[in-house]
Amino acid sequence: MKIIAANWKMDGSKELIDNLAISLSDLKLVFNFIFCPPFTLIDYSIQKFASFAKIGAQDCSVFENGPHTGDISCSRLADIGCSFVIIGHSERRKSGDYDSAIKTKIENAQKAGINQIVCVGEDLNTYESGKTLDFLSQQIKVLKSVLNNNTVIAYEPIWAIGTGKIPILKEIEKIHNFIEKETGLTVIYGGSVTLNNYIDILSIKSVGGVLVGGESLKIERFSKMLYTW
Ligand code: PGA
Repeated sequence: MKIIAANWKMDGSKELIDNLAISLSDLKLVFNFIFCPPFTLIDYSIQKFASFAKIGAQDCSVFENGPHTGDISCSRLADIGCSFVIIGHSERRKSGDYDSAIKTKIENAQKAGINQIVCVGEDLNTYESGKTLDFLSQQIKVLKSVLNNNTVIAYEPIWAIGTGKIPILKEIEKIHNFIEKETGLTVIYGGSVTLNNYIDILSIKSVGGVLVGGESLKIERFSKMLYTW
């Protein structure tokens, strides 16, 4: 089954989770559904979605334990039943998550038994200068030693996130083939995935799933995505 992962970022509420639970209640999901709400909604999501979704966090602490006020460690996430964590999202990299921190977070997740969605992706400048594969190769190289069988790679071109722009399908195919070859792992695509384009994207063999931001907050459209394939 291909993956559909939802990234609610800082949005969402208990009410929206209730609405999503209602609209999915009598549907047979045709995807492996991974739901990543803000930390504060993880516990509630587990109560509501446990029977048909895996619940993920959007980040984790670089520390395994200790006095780090405000941080949430992977073992705390595992304790409440979280089974995935997004690591290295470009929005986290922008606020200071460097390669060494990303590597440590992957290791911490692995130790706590949490699967990881590790994000890679180039910015517009890199894309326009035709250096995407070189850039990705470098990004993967520094993480390679910690990637493991419980890692899924999310290819998210930064210029496609929240912009309504996506690479042409041939480009997505080429890049996914490349990442798959480099890592041997499942590669999902993220960046402006919607109800209108997700089937085309998922039809590419080397696309193992999609990571959906904005569209996953539109309950009616997102529910349709989860049971139409
Ligand atoms: P988007 O976000 O679907 O709103 O472009 C995707 C992401 O940031 O993971």
